[in-house]
Amino acid sequence: MRIVLLGAPGAGKGTVAKLLTDYDGSVQISTGDILRNAVKAKTELGKEAQGYMERGELVPDKLIMDIMEVRLREPDCTKGFILDGFPRTIPQAEELKKLLVKLNLKLDMVVDLDVPKDVILDRLTTRRTCSNPACQEIYNIKSKPPKPDGTCVKCGSPAVQRADETVEAITKRLETYNEKTAPLINFYRKEGLLKTISSLSSEEIVSQIKTAIKQ
Ligand code: AP5
Repeated sequence: MRIVLLGAPGAGKGTVAKLLTDYDGSVQISTGDILRNAVKAKTELGKEAQGYMERGELVPDKLIMDIMEVRLREPDCTKGFILDGFPRTIPQAEELKKLLVKLNLKLDMVVDLDVPKDVILDRLTTRRTCSNPACQEIYNIKSKPPKPDGTCVKCGSPAVQRADETVEAITKRLETYNEKTAPLINFYRKEGLLKTISSLSSEEIVSQIKTAIKQ
C-alpha cells in the first residue's frame, strides 16, 4: 500500500503506522523519527532541525523534501510505504505529488485520523517512546505501559518522554498543525484521496484501512 497518515500531534499516526507494517511489507516512513535520530546522532541535519522541533515548529520544507526524495528512492519502498508525519504543509504535498510522478508511483489513499482535542492532550502528556533509535516503540502510561521499571518491552532500552513534550511545545505543535497541516485535509479531498476515520481504537482504524485498501 502507498498511503499518507494525516492527523494532529498525538492522533495516533505512529501507532497505526507500526501496526500496518505487518500487513503487506509496506515500510513506515516517519519524518519525525528520521529527524529525532539525526538530532541524537548530532548530524548536520539534526543540528539544523533541533531548535525547530523543540519549539514545536515545523522544520523548513526544503530540508524535508531533500530527505524524502532520497528515502522514497530506497529499495525497501518498492513494497509500499506508510507516510507518517509527511506531508505537513501544502508546499510539501505539492512537491510530493511531483516526486511521485517522477517515480511513476501513485498514492492509494490519504487517511485523516480525526481525534478530539482533549483526547490528544491526554495522550501526548502520557506518551513514552523507546529511546533506542532502531526500535522507537510507542508507549502510553495509561493505555500501553512500558515495563514497570520504565524500559521498552521489545528491546529493554529506557522509554522516555520526547524533548517536544513540554506543555509549551505541545501547545505550539497543535497551533502549527491547525495553521499549516489541517489545510491538507481539503487538498486531498479535492484530489479524491481522502478517507476520514474518527475511531479511537487503533485496531479499528487499521481494520478500516485494510478494508478500504482491498476495495
Ligand atoms: P512527529 O514525530 O511527526 O510528531 P507529531 O505529528 O507531532 O505526531 P506525534 O508523533 O506526536 O503523534 P502521533 O500522531 O504519531 O501519535 P502516537 O502514535 O505517538 O514530528 C515531530 C516534529 O518533527 C514536528 O513538530 C516538526 O518539528 C518535525 N517534523 C516532522 N515531520 C515534519 C515535516 N514533514 N515537515 C516539517 N517538520 C516536520 O500516539 C500518541 C500517544 O497516544 C502514544 O502514547 C500512544 O501510545 C497513544 N495512543 C495512540 N493511539 C491510541 C489509542 N487508539 N488509544 C489509546 N492511546 C493511544
